Amino acid sequence: MVEPGPHGFSWQGGRVARFQTYQRIARFYDLIDLPFEYSRYRRLRPLLFEGLNGRLLDAGVGTGRNMPFYPPGSEVIGVDISPAMLLRARRRRGQSRAEVQLRQMDVTNLDFPDATFDAIVASFLFCTLPEELQAPALHELSRVLKPDGTLRLLDYRRPRHRLRLILTRLWEPWARWAFGASFDRRPESYLTQAGLKMIRTAFVVGDLIVLTEARHRPDMNGIGSAAALERRADPDAARQGNILQ
Ligand SMILES: C[S@@+](CC[C@H](N)C(=O)[O-])C[C@H]1O[C@@H](n2cnc3c(N)ncnc32)[C@H](O)[C@@H]1O
Repeated sequence: MVEPGPHGFSWQGGRVARFQTYQRIARFYDLIDLPFEYSRYRRLRPLLFEGLNGRLLDAGVGTGRNMPFYPPGSEVIGVDISPAMLLRARRRRGQSRAEVQLRQMDVTNLDFPDATFDAIVASFLFCTLPEELQAPALHELSRVLKPDGTLRLLDYRRPRHRLRLILTRLWEPWARWAFGASFDRRPESYLTQAGLKMIRTAFVVGDLIVLTEARHRPDMNGIGSAAALERRADPDAARQGNILQ
């Protein structure tokens, strides 16, 4: 069942835009995405869950494409801002070998206590979040992640390879209209201010799709405070994001 979160949403800017985008596209989403799902994403999704168990959060669960890869025996909560996407995810629950709950929530305002999850995954969420929501979203994920928990992000990047660069430039207006997506997001540059530390990052499709793993920093002072949110993005982390191993 799709339960609305009591926190509700602050209906401003990018949140409304994404809500509207995904409400509009939900019924076509799986069809439009099908070629990418089977040519690219299907083999990447298991990487998101490798070695994870316990209570997991799938942030921006969408239509539930990660469900077949949820670790058996784990307990997964999928959240998404769009009820129409969640409706499709609900139909896919039978493909999961984990226990699944679905909740409508804004990733920047999660209705969970601090340190709820053993691990959090977000696939193709940050490339759809506007720039001003990147830090608040990471901050909120950091808050609900247990101190020894793992965060994994799978996302698009602006490629440097010439042909791929041209193709993404051609594809971009469509991706922006259909999915609210951008190739220029760099969530890793906000990890430090969200109290997180990059553990590894690697391109998994050419120089186009990147998988990043992060954990809490040992010095988590100020997490959840306004001051922490206002700290500047860490240039070291941003540089690391450019030098992918
Ligand atoms: C590109 S889809 C990816 C879906 C899924 N994770 C996947 O791998 O197929 C991005 C999803 O993020 C959701 N989303 C966008 N902004 C959000 C927000 N502020 N809070 C929660 N979900 C959001 C959208 O509704 C959409 O379902």
